[in-house]
Amino acid sequence: EDTHKIRASLLEWYDKNQRDLPWRTSTKKSENGENVQEEEEEEEKRAYGVWVSEVMLQQTRVQTVIDYYNRWMLKWPTLQHLSQASLEEVNEMWAGLGYYRRARFLLEGAKMIVAEGSEFPSTVFALRKVPGIGDYTAGAIASIAFKQVVPVVDGNVVRVIARLKAISANPKDKTTVKNFWKLAAQLVDPSRPGDFNQSLMELGATLCTPLNPNCTSCPVSSQCRALHNSRNDESVMVMDY
Ligand code: ADE
Repeated sequence: EDTHKIRASLLEWYDKNQRDLPWRTSTKKSENGENVQEEEEEEEKRAYGVWVSEVMLQQTRVQTVIDYYNRWMLKWPTLQHLSQASLEEVNEMWAGLGYYRRARFLLEGAKMIVAEGSEFPSTVFALRKVPGIGDYTAGAIASIAFKQVVPVVDGNVVRVIARLKAISANPKDKTTVKNFWKLAAQLVDPSRPGDFNQSLMELGATLCTPLNPNCTSCPVSSQCRALHNSRNDESVMVMDY
């Protein structure tokens, strides 16, 4: 029913329209399925890149993050490289992004993972133990890098789901946020969770914007209850989530 249509339409749209971003390395499977070891290494590399990019993206626009991300990855291409960095170097690299605590957490997290044997945590539960990794970042890394079927909820995702389901609620209320995590968990596509989560974020960033959403170009407009009720404007909550 609706859920299946929403998944299929969003993924099809994402495959055609996703922005080409440096941390979006291809996740396509090897054709013969050999070499599991190599795939695990690939996952770990991807996890590090996803972690760095998602932390940078938390308060900063994609366009700004691209340069910072590329510079960061040139200087510290792997978790092991980062774990050897000093706080001064990391802060210098972060200059202009703000919230320096986030840079310190990346460094502390890298040191912790390397100290514990360098295996990148791959579940939300394990990821949440790393300094600075909260529900959002844990969900992003687990789904995008490790294909775990878990949701990711940020402001964009809340707005998209609020409109799809025509939910009005106080975004400042803790139970509202919990509710959206639950809804997102029901929605996430089990076969391509990382791409699906990113498609929601991408839709919220590009078409399903707070003001003047571009519903005529939207892949899920026919499933959108807010649009159906002519309430696809800012009155369907979450301007300031
Ligand atoms: N905003 C934050 N993370 C994102 C991602 N992975 N894709 C699109 N937009 C994002």
